[in-house]
Amino acid sequence: MTQTNDGKCGCCCGIDLTRVKEIISECGTKENCLIPILQKVQDEYRYLPEEAMALIAEKLGISPATVFGVATFYAQFSLDPKGKYIIKVCNGTACHVRGNKTIIDAIRNRIGLEAQSGTTSDMMYTLETVSCLGACSLAPAVIINDKVYGTMNPTKMVAAIDELE
Ligand code: FES
Repeated sequence: MTQTNDGKCGCCCGIDLTRVKEIISECGTKENCLIPILQKVQDEYRYLPEEAMALIAEKLGISPATVFGVATFYAQFSLDPKGKYIIKVCNGTACHVRGNKTIIDAIRNRIGLEAQSGTTSDMMYTLETVSCLGACSLAPAVIINDKVYGTMNPTKMVAAIDELE
């Protein structure tokens, strides 16, 4: 892997890998450091860039296939870029019965997302549906980044997104 002097990946992606190097320095280069490193890189970039995974493999002395295998095995990791705000709408039974569909529609309308889920082109929002959040008494429930929003309706949902901005 080639890198420029400013820490950016030498290929066309232009991703700054400086933080990846710092995270590897902080965590160490033993093979059992792989998952903590991936977690921190994901926290930093909101996904696992391919170039970051290649650098991690190189520094830990393991194959890129091993890193890729771990990254794809655990649901907590994403290989796709995510928005600044990750909106997870619960699709569990209680939330479904209490109208999560109207909330999903309100979110899509508010953030301008045509697809049922995915990331807006300005990289501000990622909309996902997830299984039970464990907050059924608050159904319908939504999480935006780490904050839980309970007993949502379309109006409250749009207001919550407005507050983010
Ligand atoms: S079903 Fe939505 S929080 Fe449990």
